[in-house]
Amino acid sequence: MRTRQKQENAMGKFEEVYKRSLEDPEGFWGEAADQLVWDRKWDRVLDDSQAPLYRWFPGGRLNTCYNALDCHVESGNGSRLALIYDSPVTGALRHYSYQDLRDEVARLAGALKARGVEAGDRVIIYMPMVPEAVMAMLACARLGAVHSVVFGGFASNELAKRINDSQPRLILSASCGIEGGRAVPYKPLLDKALEAASHKPQGCLILQRPEERCELTAGRDEDWQEALSGATAADCVPVEATDPLYILYTSGTTGQPKGIVRDNGGHAVALKWSMKHVYNIDPGEVYWTASDIGWVVGHSYIVYAPLLQGATTVLYEGKPVGTPDAGAFWRVIAQHGVVTLFTAPTAFRAIRQQDPQGAKIAEHDLSSFRALFLAGERCDPDTLLWAQDKLKVPVIDHWWQTETGWPIVANCLGIEQLPVKPGSPTRPVPGWDLRILDGEGNEVPRGTIGSIVGRLPMPPGTFPTLWNAQERFVKTYLSSFPGYYQTGDAGYMDKDGYIFVMGRTDDIINVAGHRLSTGAIEEALANHPDVAECAVIGVHDDLKGQLPVGFLVLNAGCARPVEDIEKEAVQYVRDGIGPVAAFKTALVVQRLPKTRSGKILRGTMRHIADGESYNTPATIDDPAILDEICEALEEAGYAGRRA
Ligand code: COA
Ligand code: AMP
Repeated sequence: MRTRQKQENAMGKFEEVYKRSLEDPEGFWGEAADQLVWDRKWDRVLDDSQAPLYRWFPGGRLNTCYNALDCHVESGNGSRLALIYDSPVTGALRHYSYQDLRDEVARLAGALKARGVEAGDRVIIYMPMVPEAVMAMLACARLGAVHSVVFGGFASNELAKRINDSQPRLILSASCGIEGGRAVPYKPLLDKALEAASHKPQGCLILQRPEERCELTAGRDEDWQEALSGATAADCVPVEATDPLYILYTSGTTGQPKGIVRDNGGHAVALKWSMKHVYNIDPGEVYWTASDIGWVVGHSYIVYAPLLQGATTVLYEGKPVGTPDAGAFWRVIAQHGVVTLFTAPTAFRAIRQQDPQGAKIAEHDLSSFRALFLAGERCDPDTLLWAQDKLKVPVIDHWWQTETGWPIVANCLGIEQLPVKPGSPTRPVPGWDLRILDGEGNEVPRGTIGSIVGRLPMPPGTFPTLWNAQERFVKTYLSSFPGYYQTGDAGYMDKDGYIFVMGRTDDIINVAGHRLSTGAIEEALANHPDVAECAVIGVHDDLKGQLPVGFLVLNAGCARPVEDIEKEAVQYVRDGIGPVAAFKTALVVQRLPKTRSGKILRGTMRHIADGESYNTPATIDDPAILDEICEALEEAGYAGRRA
């Protein structure tokens, strides 16, 4: 014990914990797993017999919902607050204790069970930010069913793709969401998706919201409340630790989204561990993630992690600005005694735009507030420093992905707060052995940019595979650098081991913290009958980080007004991908810049749009095309100048 203490002092607490996680992963994660309630203990902490495929806690059986709700009730904490629903867009404010939430979830699980849902079945949840959506996720987990939440800002076409791939038994939805003060009807989107999908679920449960009710489709839809009124509570069904808890689709480089699979055991272990060690949250404390349950950030840190930890989570149906103003976040923190807020840098840029002096902060008592965590996109140092200056609490940038489910790089406040270097999310968290590799797979010197990869095995909680696509999983993530997980991000490690994440190595862009595939947007544009060819790039935007811009080459002989086609193209993306793509700029050009082998020079176009210097690629087919791209961008208000 004394030796351990001495060692800690010499190398720092973080260093010591980190080192142990890599040297003794089984001991490290085995101890973390002891913090949960298991129906059967695991045979092994880590099964590495199928490398590069790994399984955490094989042989173990547990139920995630039991660990998130029932265990707190059974240990005497049923009256503790589990969830606060704060909805400035409807005026609703509801509080659920652990007992309340457990009872509601058990009843909903009973309703699902009565409709034939059993362990392993998939259930799609296409719902706004209401408590019933959280209950739906937990009710699936209770039965061992696999939920797949689809973000409300996606169009029916994206929903249809997810229905076909996950083949749900049921779909749970609602009559509407509320966006920018107006009701967004969900039912027409659901109907259209079900018309288009080849898989037909057994039925749908629809939550009628008073803000805008919808007509139910006879023979397919049931009213949520009616289904619940006749239901009897269902018990937790223990499942294998390696069984899937959920599928969450995320953008890949093509229009076919990737179904990220999350297991039950590793996920619960990692999330509970992260709640204390990364976010420094204890049971009973109020933790708020301002995101959406449709994203991984919402899955992990609105729903599962805070509840596994016995903390109180805030479900906020509103925006950082406009609901009603740039003081909304401070009002929520003060009113509910939030100790830690997690959101995307975009939210802070939006607040800062409207309240540059942070005057609204002073109108609220933020004495409970301890830390701000930011993720989802690169955090520009300016935003970080502004937040630090105005809030006077640690502002922690941290980096992670849908694939990993929890942070890869962070400043672990619950272990030891390390100095913040603006522009860096700090150091790899315990369990992650990160390397920076060049194209040949060799490690590059500190300070040199390369592909950020994680040495296998990844820690528990990360995705073991892609739904229905093991081959794609191996090919996309594990093949370019054997023995490593390819994150798809580029960056460097500095002399102190801090990671700087600089951007994607593929065609994924990040718009207001939302991950989008330029390939998918191009597919939507290509459906326009007058479009012969197109390219989409992400250009810098002061508020949203990036915005997609599309370049269209029209079919030879097309004589229609260019403005009409550009307008229609914008609508094609809205209808094909959804409003979340924030696609507002389509530019008709004569040709696209390409290499002689036909590869579109998207990188060069991006540099032009952002006003960065670039070299005309030696392999370019016709350099004159770049002038036309510059002009088109300039006309549209982007930098466009040739460096
Ligand atoms: N259902 C339906 N439509 C949705 C939606 C949902 N759940 N979420 C967003 N949309 C719509 C918006 O209404 C908007 O539509 P519009 O083109 O008709 O105006 C469009 O999708 C684009 O949304 P967004 O990019 O979010 O822009 P915004 O102007 O509505 O809000 C911010 C801008 C910065 C306030 C907002 O993006 C934000 O709060 N971001 C925080 C980041 C975040 O939550 N990231 C998640 C990962 S951590
Ligand atoms: P998502 O899967 O939607 O969570 O998006 C993951 C991607 O967002 C990452 O691969 C990064 O490109 C980007 N990202 C997330 N967090 C950060 C961060 N803190 N810094 C830089 N990029 C980030």
